[in-house]
Amino acid sequence: MSEASTETAPLPPPAHIAIIMDGNGRWAKARGLPRVAGHQRGVEALRGVVEAGQEMGIDYLTLYAFSSENWKRPPREVDDLMGLLRLYLRRELRELHCNGVRIRFIGEWRLLAPDIVKLIEDAEETTTLNTGLTLIIAVNYGSHREIVEASKQIAAAVADGNMELDDIDEAIFAQHLHTDGIPDPDLVIRTSGEQRLSNFLLWQAGYAELVFMDVLWPDFNKQSLQQAVDEFHQRERRYGASSG
Ligand code: IPE
Ligand code: IPE
Ligand code: MG
Repeated sequence: MSEASTETAPLPPPAHIAIIMDGNGRWAKARGLPRVAGHQRGVEALRGVVEAGQEMGIDYLTLYAFSSENWKRPPREVDDLMGLLRLYLRRELRELHCNGVRIRFIGEWRLLAPDIVKLIEDAEETTTLNTGLTLIIAVNYGSHREIVEASKQIAAAVADGNMELDDIDEAIFAQHLHTDGIPDPDLVIRTSGEQRLSNFLLWQAGYAELVFMDVLWPDFNKQSLQQAVDEFHQRERRYGASSG
């Protein structure tokens, strides 16, 4: 390979990008629209990002759609968000499946309305053998509860004599999280200017690069994703070692 072509070879994208999609409410407020209008446009942005992720060749894309704390919102807004999740699954499953996307959900989604649970089960089952992008949607997800539940399962295994105390290590612990089998995110993006994780992938993002962007989620597009990936490529990941 010539030197010139080595120089221009694009860097591989991060294998796993996770996004905290924030700012729908502020997007709507700035336009004098109801919050639901922001959430609707947020779904459009989500669609675009899934497409962009596929084009970029990302292996895993995790999207934070509804946190275990979002139940604190007015019932009407919760209903709107659940309605949009329903609509998304009903409308998009076919195309996602055709494009080879594998769908997985994390969070306590089994506690949602029975028809949504059914749609989620259907989406996961239909796409289980797909080998393209893995799209992970976090719904009714919160890391604190996930970690407590994992601890309880492990404690029960020890109490029942199915596991030795000394068998517990990071790998065993990770196997009891909702993300079992999914590599940790390399890059976590949060939109809307907020700089916090809001109970998202606290264990898994231990060594992720964090990119906070001022753009509100409904305005997030392919260029925004590329901008975050470019920022990721500027970073030096050291994992505790000295700078090389
Ligand atoms: C993100 O937008 C969507 C969800 C959390 C479900 P927000 O609804 O949090 O928007 P802001 O933060 O109020 O602008
Ligand atoms: C985090 O956003 C949850 C999702 C994006 C689904 P929030 O808007 O709920 O987070 P806080 O309340 O500002 O921390
Ligand atoms: Mg918010």
